[in-house]
Amino acid sequence: MSNRKLLLAHIREGHYAHAGEEEAIELTMKLIQKNTQNQILDVGCGLGGTANYIEKQGYGKVTGIDIDPSVLHTAKELYSHVRFELCDANSAHSFFSQLRFNVIYSFNAFFCFKTQKNCLTGFSEIAENNADLLLFDYTSPGYFTQKSPFCDRTKESSASTLFAPINLDRIERDLFEANWQLNTIINLDAKYRIWYQSLILKMEQAKNELIQKFDNTTYHDLYTGYVQLLTLLEQKKIGGAIIHATHRK
Ligand SMILES: C[S@@+](CC[C@H](N)C(=O)[O-])C[C@H]1O[C@@H](n2cnc3c(N)ncnc32)[C@H](O)[C@@H]1O
Repeated sequence: MSNRKLLLAHIREGHYAHAGEEEAIELTMKLIQKNTQNQILDVGCGLGGTANYIEKQGYGKVTGIDIDPSVLHTAKELYSHVRFELCDANSAHSFFSQLRFNVIYSFNAFFCFKTQKNCLTGFSEIAENNADLLLFDYTSPGYFTQKSPFCDRTKESSASTLFAPINLDRIERDLFEANWQLNTIINLDAKYRIWYQSLILKMEQAKNELIQKFDNTTYHDLYTGYVQLLTLLEQKKIGGAIIHATHRK
C-alpha cells in the first residue's frame, strides 16, 4: 500500500479518498431510499471506507470494484463483510453480466476513467430498471485541458494521474446517449472549496507528525497537489457536484 494513500486515510480519519468524507456520503446518499435488498455497485472503491459506510447505513449490499490490487487487498482486510472485486470500470458490464444493480455510485473516481462515456453505457447494461446512478465528483464548466494537480507527482498507476472532471456542458447528453436520464445536478463548488481548505489546514497543522510517520516526499507531493486543486477551485476552473440520474430502458 502506498504511503500517499495511508497518509490520506490518516488525515481524513477514515478510509476515504474523496472530498468531504462522511458529510459527502450523506449528501449523496440522501437522494435515494434505504433498502437492504438493494444491490449496489461502488465504482473505484479505493480502500473501501465508503462501501463499508453505505452498507452499514442500510442502503443495501455493496460490491466495490477498483483497478488497483493493492487498495483492494487492504479493503478486503479492513472490511471483510463487503464484497470487493478487481475490475476496471470499463469492463464492469462483462464482469457482472449475471447481476443487476439498483444503485451504481462513484466517489471521486469517475474523473480517473479514461473512457467515461463507455463506462456510463456499460453501467446501464448492468442496471435494474429505474436504477439510480450517483456520481460525486469534480466538474468543469466545459472541456478541461489543464494538467492534473497530481500529474508527475506519483509513481502509482497512470489512472491516478488522469484528471478529467465531469464536463457539465455535455454530461446530460452523454448520460442520455448511455441510457441514463439526468435528474439533478447538485452544485458543491463552495463545499469543495471548504473541504479542501480544511484538508490543507489539517496537513499544515500536522506537518511534522506526518513527515515523521510517512515521509517528506509523500507529504510535499500530496500537499502541493491539494494546494493546486484548491487554486483551480478558487479560480472556478473546476468545481464539484453530485450528478443523479435514473436508468431508462
Ligand atoms: C480518488 S480515489 C477514490 C476512492 C474511493 N471512491 C473513495 O471515495 O475513497 C479513485 C479510485 O479510483 C480507482 N480507479 C481509477 N481508475 C479506475 C478504473 N478505470 N476502474 C476502476 N477503478 C479505477 C483508483 O484506483 C482509486 O482507488
